[in-house]
Amino acid sequence: MKRLLWVILAVVVIVVVVVLLQGRGGETGNETGEIRVATDATWKPFEYVNTTTREIVGFDIDLFDAIAERANLDVEYVNVAWDPLLAGMAQGTYDAAISSITIKPDRLAEMNFSHPYYVAGQIIVTLNSSTNITGPETLSGKSVGVQTGTTGDDEAQSINGTTVVGFDEIGMAFVALLAHQIDAVICDTPVASGFVDKYDILKTVGEVLTTEQYGIAVPKGKEELLDKINTALDALLAEGIIDQLTTKWLVQ
Ligand code: ARG
Repeated sequence: MKRLLWVILAVVVIVVVVVLLQGRGGETGNETGEIRVATDATWKPFEYVNTTTREIVGFDIDLFDAIAERANLDVEYVNVAWDPLLAGMAQGTYDAAISSITIKPDRLAEMNFSHPYYVAGQIIVTLNSSTNITGPETLSGKSVGVQTGTTGDDEAQSINGTTVVGFDEIGMAFVALLAHQIDAVICDTPVASGFVDKYDILKTVGEVLTTEQYGIAVPKGKEELLDKINTALDALLAEGIIDQLTTKWLVQ
């Protein structure tokens, strides 16, 4: 009987120790200040998955890495599709998101943004052979591919008589364009330049249709983190980081 009591005591001690150790692990995770940063890594060259290393890389990732180093933050990047990324930011699922996100009023109602770090705009991409497509007014009666829920989607919807075809990823819209299933794509200038550079049969046409500023999104209620990000970002902007990243990542 005594022996049985000793065994029970030993089991209780082991369980308590294991539970305590697990609890400590969790706390340590917080103390190091690790934050989860969402990105829709389908937007080359700003955020995409390097097919050889399987790592998330790009202009935005380098920028956020530099911010994290300054602000003393440990970052875990989470690859999230565009729709759930915006929904997740509105609900506070992630600590931040860097994903070429245009700062705009309806988003500002749901999340906070850092100071702007990059200016882009919407541009039309079409096949070289589509000589009749020269600007937005020529897209009436035509089909235009966009990434659903982006400012490219907004822009395409605003053109009269255009059929907007939404895709979960911009790459799928370009596949459809290259296969002659749609007439054009509207997306952010740096992404358009990347595709035009890669495929000889594509061209951009017309003027840049919008002027948009990218910001880093932080959920409402995480103002302290937003301040840290802004302080680091401001210093990096002053040191000319955007020029460096432009040279490294963008088609000139
Ligand atoms: N700048 C555009 C917007 O905010 C498109 C961003 C898409 N980003 C991405 N990683 N898929 O709507």
